[in-house]
Amino acid sequence: MIVFIFLVFAVAALIYTYLVWNFSYWAKRRVQSPKARVLLGNLPNGILRNKNVVYDFEKIYKRYKGKVPFVGLVQLRDPRLMILEPELIKDVLVRKFHHFRNNEFSYLIDTELDPLFAKNPFLLRDDEWKEKRAEITPAFTTNRLKALYPLIQDVSVRMVKYINTEVKKADPFDARELSAKFTTDVVSNCIFGIDAESFTKEKPEIREMGRRLFSQSAWIFVKMIILESFKFLQGFIKIQFTELEVQQFFVDLMKQALKYREEKKVQREDFLDFVIQLRNKKNISELEMASHTISFFSDGFETSSIAISHALYEIAKNKRVQAKLREEVRSNLDKNGQISFEKLQEMTYLDQVFHEALRMHPPLMITSRLCSEDVELEYDGKKVTVEKGMNVFIPYLWVHYDPENFLEPTNFHPERFDDGALKDYLDRCVLMPFGGGPRICLGMRFALLQSKAALATVIANFEISVNSKTQDSPLVIDPIEFLNIKTGGLWLDFKPLSDE
Ligand code: HEM
Repeated sequence: MIVFIFLVFAVAALIYTYLVWNFSYWAKRRVQSPKARVLLGNLPNGILRNKNVVYDFEKIYKRYKGKVPFVGLVQLRDPRLMILEPELIKDVLVRKFHHFRNNEFSYLIDTELDPLFAKNPFLLRDDEWKEKRAEITPAFTTNRLKALYPLIQDVSVRMVKYINTEVKKADPFDARELSAKFTTDVVSNCIFGIDAESFTKEKPEIREMGRRLFSQSAWIFVKMIILESFKFLQGFIKIQFTELEVQQFFVDLMKQALKYREEKKVQREDFLDFVIQLRNKKNISELEMASHTISFFSDGFETSSIAISHALYEIAKNKRVQAKLREEVRSNLDKNGQISFEKLQEMTYLDQVFHEALRMHPPLMITSRLCSEDVELEYDGKKVTVEKGMNVFIPYLWVHYDPENFLEPTNFHPERFDDGALKDYLDRCVLMPFGGGPRICLGMRFALLQSKAALATVIANFEISVNSKTQDSPLVIDPIEFLNIKTGGLWLDFKPLSDE
């Protein structure tokens, strides 16, 4: 019995030692670090999910910003570094990119379980990332975006029709649902040439499958943290980012679209056409073709719909901004009440409004970069050596809310970007809705195009205001979501302007 009790204590002591082994990592290196808790580290909500984990980052950011340029963290049991100073963020994203060119996700993806996702540039690393990124970049040239624009305009017209019909029911609209319908239709149209019918069908299949692309994200996030911290489990626990049924749905969709196009000799300058050209030039496999189309879909619709819905919410809340924006949009309408591709690019206030909404509500709130080779970071005489294999966090959201970076950061104030100031904020790495450096969002230009088209269409045709159903005192980021999704939805009232 004594031996048994001794053994139990010995095993418990071993496990405890293993769990707290790294808790003194930062103290030994004289890097300030908050006290970590056993099994929870410094990011308890990453595991407990009572609140979104970004609020753990907020607490730490506010406590240390201005005092030190970086802070040491422990995630579960692994040391991590969080960067606070924009100059060092620039080092990681741009100047010393070579040391930080991969992210941790790329090591967790299983090519057998996720054959299609495994080829998404976001998940690739090193030379394969470079090669695929270069391969896909020409999909977003000005000419191709211009060719896609009429498809976006078609969806905009359908959205106006839908709102005009639904508005008669006198119920508020969830801006998130409305924006998701818009981006699902735009993206399906621009990739496959297919009308997803989000505005007319009760439960369109593409929208449903799009939703399921991300439906397991909360559980995946917990699994990822566990696997990162207990690397020996990596052979036993596998992560599947997307169910095979959903992957198969998109493969079939692409095959049907391909067959239709080849049989009917249809010529369209869309993403599928781009992928067909890639196949003809580089002989890429059908799997790779499907993988490119699913990447466009998965990256294209969710992030943009989150961005559009938050922009609508802020515009609805800020009547002065809404009136000023409407004036700009209306003065740029053509005789058919449409906005041309060129005019959309020229509208500076629209650009400022959208970027201010992205500042306050970036869809991707935090990123991490994996160090591939020991490197020293230094700011204001304070140095740290980031070791190979260390994950470095960049808390995009909290940098955007830092009063040292933005005056009155909780105020929605698009005029802060007047006189070309936007570029300066982006260059200084204090505004990073699309990330920065060589791994900056690949679809940024497409995202801006579809989002601005949606906003301009709504503002030209409707007066919008926030409905009391919105839980916004204050808005809370959903505890289990990976992207910036607010609890309870963003409910808005729409009033057709033609009624005035
Ligand atoms: C408003 C909408 C969008 C936002 C806010 C957004 C944001 C971002 C951010 C922040 C990153 C960098 C991730 C990091 O720093 O770790 C990123 C990467 C990426 N985005 Fe977007 N994105 C948007 C729309 C799109 C669209 C429409 C597409 C494609 C159709 C797209 C494709 C990608 C890809 C492929 C990457 C990975 C790039 C690489 O690692 O080289 N995104 N996005």
